[in-house]
Amino acid sequence: MAKNASVDFADMQGLLRFGYAKLTEASFLLLRIRDAAAARAWLAAAPVSTAEYQSPPPAAALQIAFTSEGLRVLGLAGDVLAGFSAEFLAGMSSDRSRSRRLGDTGNNAPQYWQWGGAARVPHVAAMLYAREGGLGAWTQTVKGVGWDAAFEVMDCLPTSNLYGVEPFGFTDGVSQPTIDWEQQHMMRDPNEPVLDYSNLVAPGEFLLGYPNEYYRYTDRPLLSDESEGASILPGAEDRTGMRDLGRNGSYLVMRQLAQDVRGFWKFANGQANGDADERRQLAQAMVGRTLKGDPLAQAAERPITGVDAEDAAQNGFTFDADANGTRCPFGAHIRRANPRTNDLPGAENHLISKLVHTLGFEDGSFRDDVISPTRFHRLLRRGREYGPGLTQQEALEPAPSDDPERGIHFISLGANISRQFEFVQSAWLMSSKFGGMTGESDPLLGNREPISGCPVTSGFSLPREGSAPRRLEGLPQFIAVRGGAYFFLPGIRALRYLARER
Ligand code: HEM
Repeated sequence: MAKNASVDFADMQGLLRFGYAKLTEASFLLLRIRDAAAARAWLAAAPVSTAEYQSPPPAAALQIAFTSEGLRVLGLAGDVLAGFSAEFLAGMSSDRSRSRRLGDTGNNAPQYWQWGGAARVPHVAAMLYAREGGLGAWTQTVKGVGWDAAFEVMDCLPTSNLYGVEPFGFTDGVSQPTIDWEQQHMMRDPNEPVLDYSNLVAPGEFLLGYPNEYYRYTDRPLLSDESEGASILPGAEDRTGMRDLGRNGSYLVMRQLAQDVRGFWKFANGQANGDADERRQLAQAMVGRTLKGDPLAQAAERPITGVDAEDAAQNGFTFDADANGTRCPFGAHIRRANPRTNDLPGAENHLISKLVHTLGFEDGSFRDDVISPTRFHRLLRRGREYGPGLTQQEALEPAPSDDPERGIHFISLGANISRQFEFVQSAWLMSSKFGGMTGESDPLLGNREPISGCPVTSGFSLPREGSAPRRLEGLPQFIAVRGGAYFFLPGIRALRYLARER
């Protein structure tokens, strides 16, 4: 397959390329459109940040995303809107079956959410980032002229800077897929399965309008060249005579997840009978990394494509050498969220490997078979923490009556919400059958609700060398869902198309 042209960073919102780590202040404004014409006028002039490198780096950034309801209210024609994927059109909280699959049941059900449930779906997310001390002024600049006529602020989600650590105390943002911006990867033969775990992922897994890991283009609206206003849009790479509203855009999943930090450390402390080392080890086993972010699993024997030498200590690993889960439990959060398996198990000789796999002779074949290849299910994570930090020691003390809420605004980007976020959340994190296990779900995220055919989901097993696994029972619910929605993060030209006068 020929090498494709490189991507157009100037037509892309920056979040696809940057985490804006230096812009330590951020807030996410969830907006309802008051007046479509006023909203379009504001959007046409909005100082949205692109994915181009700037020198010096910017002191602030703005990203804009829309729910499907937002696009409709903004005035996007129904036939164009229908070109987006079904799950984006339906929304995160739209039906019971989706809520069940995502684990949004019991007290996590959308009816209890602060935002994103039936009557409180935002239209637009305006995501503002600034250097320390700069967010107030940047917010005023962004609002500029016409804001009040255009929008009503439904919710303002503040964030906090916990210096690279999420509220439980673990280093966050350690593992990310490397996007193959140059599309070298696309030169692989599509009929040959990939045999090694690779961290290098096709741009089309995150950007609409580019080939993905299946060498296909994901659903997005295409308009004929003649459609009114369409000439502003980039051409569709796979369809001559068509313009691509999706190109250089992505789907953005946002979920507000409150964390019971006290409950987490008190549970680990109880299981460890107050022993500080064991408490830390149990917490680390639930995550699959140390508090500092080092993997519990062993380094891979060979370098992993898409993992730089300086990142190798933290991300140059697979679970191949830990087939029994004695280093990193099968149910640990990172082993569920990215099991790092392949199309076929890695081997020097692909033909032999294929044969061994086909005949079912390799180690751990059952476990590998029930976990599908990870390269189709990667997430680009861009979340931010909120609420004040709490040390382990503080977490063990009784909570004050006015204990503030803390948690994560989980944000992921991907070109296919159902194959990426929804699959990871439901088939890997929430599943009580993941990796052949029973009676457990993700130790951090599980809602502990019984599910069909599985009355218990609150266990956690720690396999041990030479003896029966240690089994923790009765894990409390550590995470509560406060809100969520599916957004479209358009490319810059797509944004101008949506904002055009009509
Ligand atoms: C409050 C909720 C959550 C907490 C506290 C949490 C915590 C963590 C931590 C500590 C790590 C390891 C460090 C890192 O690689 O960044 C991690 C990794 C990860 N998490 Fe979460 N997480 C949460 C929610 C989620 C959700 C909802 C998803 C997906 C639906 C998810 C997917 C992932 C993925 C894909 C990784 C990287 C795995 C890898 O490639 O090794 N997490 N998380």
